[in-house]
Amino acid sequence: MQALRILRDEVVNCTRCAELATRRTQTVFGEGPANARLCFFGEAPGADEDASGIPFVGRAGQLLTKIIEACTFSRDDVYILNVLKCRPPGNRQPLPDEVANCRSYFERQLAIIQPEFICCLGTSAAHALLQTTESIGKLRKKWFDHGTARVICTYHPSYLLRNPAAKRDVWDDMKVLMAAMGVRL
Ligand code: URA
Repeated sequence: MQALRILRDEVVNCTRCAELATRRTQTVFGEGPANARLCFFGEAPGADEDASGIPFVGRAGQLLTKIIEACTFSRDDVYILNVLKCRPPGNRQPLPDEVANCRSYFERQLAIIQPEFICCLGTSAAHALLQTTESIGKLRKKWFDHGTARVICTYHPSYLLRNPAAKRDVWDDMKVLMAAMGVRL
């Protein structure tokens, strides 16, 4: 899709965050069909994503792929993107200035895709998209609007790797999301 290609080319050349731009191997724009009904919105690339240029391909990514497949989709059916397009050093959380610098990219990306549903994965994604500081625990189990999309928040797959007991909560969230999408599980 032309509009996404133009945006991707801008992102590839971005130097708004001096530290991230000098340290990155490459930018990680996002992946999926331009007409996806559902976007998964993550935090930022890690080492594996920085190396491959593809979002969510490391351990957390493999878990996200399992979640997507449990929802009867494949990765090719959904669009996956992050708040930040560059890896923060040591996988630290995105800084407010970095989120501000990247905001126009993810906002334009979502405006082009116009998904019906956005699933925020974890605190950074939820805070960046919804411009709130509420805890992820409080943001779960509620619907929000972003443009024409309905937004739901759940835990980040990296959190599930550290706290496998929370997988049950994420599955509950996915059941709510799939019901709203009219997907029978
Ligand atoms: N975590 C994220 O939030 N995004 C990725 O792309 C990989 C891990």
